[in-house]
Amino acid sequence: MQRSSIIRPTVIATFIVAISLLHYFTPLHLPYLHAIFQRLYYLPIILAALWFGFRGGLICSIIVSIAYAPHILFQWGGCLTMEMEKYLEILLYNIVGGMTGLLSQRERERTVELQKTARGLEESYQQLQQQSERIIAIEEQLRRAEKLSTLGEMAAVLAHEIRNPLGSIRGTAEILKDDYKPGDPKHEFIEIQIRETERLNRVVEDFLRMARPQPSEMGRCSLVEELETVVTLVARDALDRGVTLRLEPFAGAAIVRANGEKLRQAFLNIVINALQATPSGGKVDIALRMAESAYEISVSDNGTGIDADSQAKIFEPFFTTKPNGTGLGLAITRKIVEGHGGTLAVESEVGKGTTVLVKLPLNDSAN
Ligand SMILES: Nc1ncnc2c1ncn2[C@@H]1O[C@H](COP(=O)(O)OP(=O)(O)O)[C@@H](O)[C@H]1O
Ligand SMILES: [Mg+2]
Repeated sequence: MQRSSIIRPTVIATFIVAISLLHYFTPLHLPYLHAIFQRLYYLPIILAALWFGFRGGLICSIIVSIAYAPHILFQWGGCLTMEMEKYLEILLYNIVGGMTGLLSQRERERTVELQKTARGLEESYQQLQQQSERIIAIEEQLRRAEKLSTLGEMAAVLAHEIRNPLGSIRGTAEILKDDYKPGDPKHEFIEIQIRETERLNRVVEDFLRMARPQPSEMGRCSLVEELETVVTLVARDALDRGVTLRLEPFAGAAIVRANGEKLRQAFLNIVINALQATPSGGKVDIALRMAESAYEISVSDNGTGIDADSQAKIFEPFFTTKPNGTGLGLAITRKIVEGHGGTLAVESEVGKGTTVLVKLPLNDSAN
């Protein structure tokens, strides 16, 4: 750009100077040479018009006229017809310069206009594409919400059907327990039975809570404490599996405004998945980090990994690759994390392992 802005005027000026010199130094008794030089002037004029538009063409033709006029006046002055013909040529220079300039300028303006239109079209196309991507994303969310709400209805029916018999089982077990003294093995069995019915009841309640949107009780919650609780809960399981479970130390308590119970549930689901995917001798690392606007909790395992096909589906309710999995863990986890304004992401490589990353926004009201 910079170079062509010097080169073009130089080319035109060189032409004009060279042709003028030819005029002034060619003897007048060679009129056919002068006739050729006279036409050569069109070269710089047309170039100037093409390169610089109307004004460029006209300025060039005027310069040519000024350079050429003394030659006519002083050298051809003697012959009137010759002189007249050459003044006519000067007129033509200016007409050609102006006209060519005008035409080329219009052409150029049209090109610019076309380019602008093309750019405009490109932008609208991109906007359209972004909008359609957003629509697809929203549709996906709706689909998920729908699935979960069907799930909610199912859960309500199921919970009702399960809870009533559970109540009877528990009640009769309480009565039977009184027949045996503590220390009696049957007393122990019945206690186990009561404990297990309670656990079942909790499971049903959890299921119900997950599936039904519910105003959650938010409060001050320490992420460090929740993670420590999760580690305590699964430590035995990790030991049985021969998997090393580690929670990296974190300075501070990492306080957020959250529903601690739900967050714990979410972390538990992730950690249990990691343990289940990791063979004996492997490891699961839990780390907490404070980033600019969020706490980042990562759970990394060096287990089986997740193939690309499954990765697209792991958050869907009921998607599972385990013989007795429910496929609800990650769906619930995502619901909880998003309910706290956070995000959930999974990175995985088959055969190498998986990292699940939870981001929870730092909120001022926590302190
Ligand atoms: N850390 C992990 N490593 C490998 N696969 C995983 C991991 N976490 C989740 N998955 C995959 O995602 C699926 C869905 O997980 P989840 O929703 O918790 O249901 P479930 O554990 O009952 O199968 C699992 O069946 C498993 O295939
Ligand atoms: Mg699971």
